[in-house]
Amino acid sequence: MKQKEILLFGASGQIGRNLIRKLSKNNYKITAVTRNIHRAGYILKTQANPGYLELVELKNFKNDKIDELFERSSICINLIGILYERRKDEFKLIHSDLPAFLSKKSNQFKLEKFIHLSALGIEKATDSNYASSKLEGEKRIRENFNKSIILKPSIVYSVDDNFSTKFMALLSSLPFMPLYYNGKTKFSPIHVTDLVDIIFNIIENKTENLVLECIGPEVITFREIIEKILSSINKKRILLPLPLPLAKLSAKFLQLLPNPLLTEDQLRLLKYDNFKSDNYKNNYDLGYIPRKKFDSEINKYSFNWRSGGQFADQNNEDKIK
Ligand SMILES: NC(=O)c1ccc[n+]([C@@H]2O[C@H](COP(=O)([O-])OP(=O)(O)OC[C@H]3O[C@@H](n4cnc5c(N)ncnc54)[C@H](OP(=O)(O)O)[C@@H]3O)[C@@H](O)[C@H]2O)c1
Repeated sequence: MKQKEILLFGASGQIGRNLIRKLSKNNYKITAVTRNIHRAGYILKTQANPGYLELVELKNFKNDKIDELFERSSICINLIGILYERRKDEFKLIHSDLPAFLSKKSNQFKLEKFIHLSALGIEKATDSNYASSKLEGEKRIRENFNKSIILKPSIVYSVDDNFSTKFMALLSSLPFMPLYYNGKTKFSPIHVTDLVDIIFNIIENKTENLVLECIGPEVITFREIIEKILSSINKKRILLPLPLPLAKLSAKFLQLLPNPLLTEDQLRLLKYDNFKSDNYKNNYDLGYIPRKKFDSEINKYSFNWRSGGQFADQNNEDKIK
């Protein structure tokens, strides 16, 4: 069977790595674009069998190489995203200008589809630069290419994420955990393999011109997420609702860290619920039912942060009988 060629931007991230595994196992050939082949290559090249993955280094997008990549591809997927800005207008560049550019190229080179990862719950968050830049990106993509599919996931978690594992690390070392907005913000976390299955189905089926919210099987508050993680790592911590002025002040300082724990923009975004809006279709409407539940999945890897590790509960006699 002829292999379909997928052009993947943002391939070295959490969703990209998992998607490469799923696609290559199913006979797709992937061209993964990264800014630094030496940094990302070591992890990317282990995600697919030889012959299924080509790595391309692009430092910028003003490059003849781009046309060559689009010329030989059937589908383009954009997973590039950032959580905070390192320089002025970076959200606009990454979340609006770049998706507009890639969707225009997808149209110019008559690709079968352009799949773009945006985010859930951004419509009401007009005071967040992250949210408005993502929303602007969605609008420009829809204007540029009518075969675009925009996916809007809630939090995506897995053993190799930057969310549940970050909180496990924080909660295992901090004596207390600040709760913003009383921990009442709601999320619908989706496991990365469930999201990757949705993307795979969209590639396989004739789907085009779609905006789809991608949600997991539960709606849980931020406080519940922290409680579930604490129970999973078998730790007790004080959960401290932080008054908003204090939260704003802490974000002002935390955003100065090289890899910020919280920025002022993220704090504003955290005010808005992050579960299905019913303004768009969601994965359930298309019959894509997520299988993985938050508690049971995080229990599979939380032992890394439990005192004594994976076998802490087992007594020594059990180990030799
Ligand atoms: N993970 C979630 O919980 C979640 C939730 C909602 C939406 N999303 C969206 O889904 C997409 C993929 O998420 P992810 O978690 O897999 O992302 P990720 O792990 O943060 O990876 C993002 C990728 O973007 C590339 N990138 C970062 N900054 C860049 C820049 N300035 N210029 C060019 N490339 C840059 C990086 O590739 P290289 O370093 O290899 O170039 C990296 O592999 C993003 O758009 C994100 O906003 C994710």
